Amino acid sequence: MEKKRVVLVTGAARGLGAAIARRLGKDGFRVAVNYCHSQNLADKVAQGIIAEGGEAKAFRADVTNLDDVKAMLAEIRNTWGSVEILVNNATGPQPERPLEEYSWQDFADQIDFFIKAPVYLMQELIAPMKQARWGKVINIGSEVTENYRPIFSPYIAAKSALLGLTRTWALEFGPWNIAINSIAPGWIPTERHSDAESADLEAYRAKVPMGRQGVPEDVASAASYLAREETNFISGQQFCVNGANTF
Ligand SMILES: NC(=O)c1ccc[n+]([C@@H]2O[C@H](COP(=O)([O-])OP(=O)(O)OC[C@H]3O[C@@H](n4cnc5c(N)ncnc54)[C@H](OP(=O)(O)O)[C@@H]3O)[C@@H](O)[C@H]2O)c1
Repeated sequence: MEKKRVVLVTGAARGLGAAIARRLGKDGFRVAVNYCHSQNLADKVAQGIIAEGGEAKAFRADVTNLDDVKAMLAEIRNTWGSVEILVNNATGPQPERPLEEYSWQDFADQIDFFIKAPVYLMQELIAPMKQARWGKVINIGSEVTENYRPIFSPYIAAKSALLGLTRTWALEFGPWNIAINSIAPGWIPTERHSDAESADLEAYRAKVPMGRQGVPEDVASAASYLAREETNFISGQQFCVNGANTF
């Protein structure tokens, strides 16, 4: 790799974010491992990357809080310089209920993670990216924006809005050579799904043409591809990582 780019992966203490951070660490990026509550886990992710010869450090911030975002980006800047590749991955709880049982706050909570956080981060990062005429944003979406299902409306609405941000930002920032893409995973079991019913898991797998669920490393491979210098002309796209479950 020509230059050691600085990448920030939000919500990288566990799950898909941790796998993305590890993979980008192995690829030679300087990896800012963001966490909000789980410092021990984030430190372990960073230490694992360093143990394999990479560069990484854990940085705390609630990405839905502007003061936290500003403080974290300043800390990263003081450590390595400005973030050049942003992976918007962090998520909170994702409730599934009929519409009558949601409050507006349930919708606002999803919008906080999938719109407010990326907006806060990009409003801070866009000036240095424009100045460098280089930048990449990888938004972690979901296959549910291609394959709607009921009782998940706050999450699906917010992820759909994130896809809207991906495409409009690709248009808006293209003139500065800044590429914005989305990775849309299928259902990939992480710690969060430890209480999933085996019947639900089997029913999902039965529909996937490739006959399996993904693993976090499948998403990490896609992120690795999109983070490379050589894929800079790919922008405004959504990549589903789901074994042909959606087109
Ligand atoms: N797994 C799937 O099946 C799947 C499918 C489609 C899309 N996705 C998307 O992939 C992304 C990751 O999902 P996941 O399954 O890996 O989730 P996860 O295992 O629940 O991980 C979420 C991460 O977000 C962090 N986090 C929570 N609140 C935060 C905050 N306020 N600020 C910063 N970080 C915060 C958590 O760390 P702390 O404990 O430190 O807060 C944790 O590391 C999400 O955007 C999700 O919607 C996942």
